[in-house]
Amino acid sequence: MPDDAQGNLTEVSAWLREARHIAVLTGAGVSAESGVPTFRDAQTGYWAQFDPQDMASEAGFRAAPSRVWAWYEHRRALAQSAQPNAGHHALAAFAQRWPGRLTLITQNVDGLHQQAGSEPVLCLHGNLLDNRWLDVPRDCCRMEHAAAGSPPYCDRCGNLVRPGVVWFGEPLPLATLDAAQRAAQSCALMLVVGTSGAVYPAAGLAHRARAAGARVVVINTAPSELDAIAHAVLRGPSAQLLPALLGTANPVGMSNPA
Ligand code: OAD
Repeated sequence: MPDDAQGNLTEVSAWLREARHIAVLTGAGVSAESGVPTFRDAQTGYWAQFDPQDMASEAGFRAAPSRVWAWYEHRRALAQSAQPNAGHHALAAFAQRWPGRLTLITQNVDGLHQQAGSEPVLCLHGNLLDNRWLDVPRDCCRMEHAAAGSPPYCDRCGNLVRPGVVWFGEPLPLATLDAAQRAAQSCALMLVVGTSGAVYPAAGLAHRARAAGARVVVINTAPSELDAIAHAVLRGPSAQLLPALLGTANPVGMSNPA
């Protein structure tokens, strides 16, 4: 663990022990050590290679469906071969040990939190493995026709199948966002882990938690846009910092059930 994280870690551990309700907002950085690329990291992030409007918007998909579909097929294969890391496992173990105490909110679509055993997970941006129709389906629509590298389509009306994730310009799933906002509003501590904090409404959850009186802690290898509102920043990889933090967090006034 980086030296500068150590001092803050002691303080944040104390906050964690005091907190009856903890909300955790995760982003791509949580899965970086599982080998899943982030979006905005220079060199290795997807958006260093691709324009998000081309690959993560309805207009981009309509303009070049096969290009976008092939990219999602690649990301699906990558996510399916990836394994949860120690950070995912630490979050799942904590929630299992203290039922009802932690609400896990993620922007990630890779399913690694679920694979580690976290349940429920509030998936703000959907799930990489889901599909849906691009246009409102008619009676004729069946997902029967597909060629490798191209999206399945209806051979009667031409409707295309698209990935069931949330793209730029699209609304987040309402019930999920609602539950996430309630968690942000009511938590005593929010951990913001492995996200640049550049995408809203997800990043707005940290502002909401702070405004409602929660302590906000950022865990990130690099500066993020949410550092400015954080009460503490733990600088380092989440696969090290989450186990270090959550492994020792018996809450004040509660005995260890194990
Ligand atoms: P970003 O790629 O914007 O940010 C990843 C963050 O993780 C950066 O701040 C890194 O410094 C940090 N990071 C990298 N490795 C880390 C590690 N091992 N431990 C801790 N932190 C680490 O990804 P998100 O913030 O998740 O949305 O991006 C938000 C949304 O923008 C995504 O859900 C996606 C993207 O475009 C859509 O596609 C709609």
